[in-house]
Amino acid sequence: MMVFGTRPEAIKMCPLILECRKRTEQFDVVVCLTGQHAHMLLPVLDYFQIKPDYNLEVMKEEQTLTDVTVEVLLRLGPVLDQEKPDILLVHGDTTTTFSSALAAFYRQIPVGHVEAGLRTYDMTSPYPEEFNRQATGILADYHFAPTKWAAQNLLNEKKDPARVFVTGNTVIDAIGTTIRKDYRHPELDWAADSALILITAHRRENLGEPMKRMFSAIRRIVDDHPETKAIYPIHMNPKVRRIAEMYLTNHERIHLIEPLDVFDFHNFMSRCRIILTDSGGLQEEGSAVKKPVLLMRDTTERPEGLEAGVVDMVGTGEEAIYSAASRLLREEAAYQAMTGGGNPFGDGFASVRIADILQQITAD
Ligand code: UD1
Ligand code: UDP
Repeated sequence: MMVFGTRPEAIKMCPLILECRKRTEQFDVVVCLTGQHAHMLLPVLDYFQIKPDYNLEVMKEEQTLTDVTVEVLLRLGPVLDQEKPDILLVHGDTTTTFSSALAAFYRQIPVGHVEAGLRTYDMTSPYPEEFNRQATGILADYHFAPTKWAAQNLLNEKKDPARVFVTGNTVIDAIGTTIRKDYRHPELDWAADSALILITAHRRENLGEPMKRMFSAIRRIVDDHPETKAIYPIHMNPKVRRIAEMYLTNHERIHLIEPLDVFDFHNFMSRCRIILTDSGGLQEEGSAVKKPVLLMRDTTERPEGLEAGVVDMVGTGEEAIYSAASRLLREEAAYQAMTGGGNPFGDGFASVRIADILQQITAD
């Protein structure tokens, strides 16, 4: 059984579901959504043509961490009792991830953690994701680490080396299916004559003052660089929307739009000039499409992007964001220096590797 609940988990689990479903002799795959995200993940399932078997529908407007944790625990239990899966696969670091792993642990169902071993070792950043991924690591029986660095973290934590696997990140499998040379979109037509800045922002620890500084910097960048336009497909969290509306509306070169489907978003990434984000997954995808990512955070669990040179962690200070973006827009050499590295996050075959390993595990 695979359980997930948010947009990024869906984007990264769908390639694995498709790979496992190809292996009809070996696997009978059950897909369960927690519904932590009620809207943003459904287009992902449509794109990959996956129909879930269960949807626990836990989402509430402005839900708290307690709401999600408790509802997933309560509602997933009966599904696990009914399906009795050989293994439950969870992904990443959301509250869905942790609560689902805990629900399986309470029933002594083995847990496999996909995208395991990412760490900042700072419980406040990202919050609560660092707790979720460490706690899931404690609950998991099998750890599918995307990179050697992530696997080493798990080994340092004394996980059984026989149960830690380096697989690559399944997001690279996903992005291999989405980008099209002939892709068109009215928003990209609008931005065609510009240096396009693509923005995402949603982290809980950035809500409030950090996000105000981030958006204020972005407005100044666009103001001071007439060659730029900015597109921000805005997260559905009303707390994010309220701040974005304060800082980024009423500007003829800034478009706030609804979240894009993953197919569209990947194509926007491949056409933009730079990416400004506080996201986890965009660090991996930026590396794949070789677009400079200015990471508006103080920590990252994905240092590989920094080492490859495609990600620059600029923090959430207004001046730091403004000057890093201005430099990239003005200095071609600085720009080119961020686009040349390899992609440390995978080769497009992570799902195949994970499915191969699952085949061995379930055959034992
Ligand atoms: C969650 C994850 C975060 C992940 C992010 C991906 C946790 C604690 N956080 O954060 O790790 O990076 O998803 O986007 O697990 N909303 C909707 N419709 C949707 C989705 C969200 O209306 O489809 C609104 C709701 O009002 C909801 C709010 O957004 O209450 C926040 O959603 P939530 O899942 O709690 O937090 P995210 O910030 O999305
Ligand atoms: N994404 C998307 N549409 C958008 C913005 C992002 O499909 O409008 C995708 C993006 O390609 C990436 C994922 O959502 O795979 C990132 O999600 P998010 O930043 O919300 O979460 P995080 O990765 O930080 O957990």
